[in-house]
Amino acid sequence: MSDAVRAAADAVAKRLGKLRPRVAIVLGSGLAGVADAVRDAVRILYKEIPGFPEPGAPGHKGELVGGTLEGVPVVVQSGRFHLYEGHAPEVAALPTRVFARLGATTLVVTNAAGGVRHTFRPPVLMLIADHINLMFKNPLVGPVAEGDERFPDMSDPYDPALRRLARDVARTERIPLEEGVYAGLLGPSFETPAEIRMLQRVGADAVGMSTVPEVIAARARGVRCLGFSSITNVAAGLSPQKLSHLEVLDAGKQVSGQLEQLIRGVLRGL
Ligand code: HPA
Repeated sequence: MSDAVRAAADAVAKRLGKLRPRVAIVLGSGLAGVADAVRDAVRILYKEIPGFPEPGAPGHKGELVGGTLEGVPVVVQSGRFHLYEGHAPEVAALPTRVFARLGATTLVVTNAAGGVRHTFRPPVLMLIADHINLMFKNPLVGPVAEGDERFPDMSDPYDPALRRLARDVARTERIPLEEGVYAGLLGPSFETPAEIRMLQRVGADAVGMSTVPEVIAARARGVRCLGFSSITNVAAGLSPQKLSHLEVLDAGKQVSGQLEQLIRGVLRGL
């Protein structure tokens, strides 16, 4: 794993030249807009990066975009590697480890998610307060990767100060922002109504198929995390409607402008 991280980070660093990203931003399904806002953009296709597979999920590009946003050096990951595509957890977490090796100290993760909390009427933006790992996989399993901690503390997976900043930005910019717990499931089938009732009982507010491996890998390297879920649909069984990935992409587009505003505000406040 350490060799794979080093090789990928060297290839990315070469393309970024003098740019040293402080913040890495991971874009979820239907949330690609932020990548287009990056100034002095350097676009690096995944096929140019050793160990990066081609992304398979519709609505996910396959590139890293380096540059600045609100004057902050950033790298944006457009297209993530999901476990449901058959990728190993360490592949899902490879970009995160690469960003940490490049010197990023903050990870902003975004995702599309189903609304588990009864009162959510999508589209809703949710600040992730915490997560529940129901993927039953973990990118830290195996020999300790160089730069990782063996037993990282997970009492504050989503940084309290960054969350406060995000809430302040939302208030100032009048962007409705909920806050809640994200349950990460393996997928790719959507959940059953019984599974959603279980998630409500265990304290989840949203459900999705990503984010958890990245945040675990980031915390193992001391990278602080901020997460936003774009709640694109009510979860299975909470409405008569059937779930579809197209619906997820469409609803994601509706809130992606607000999400960009939130991320910009957070970057200005760092
Ligand atoms: N479940 C899981 N993942 C999702 C959902 C959902 O309802 N919506 C968007 N991603």
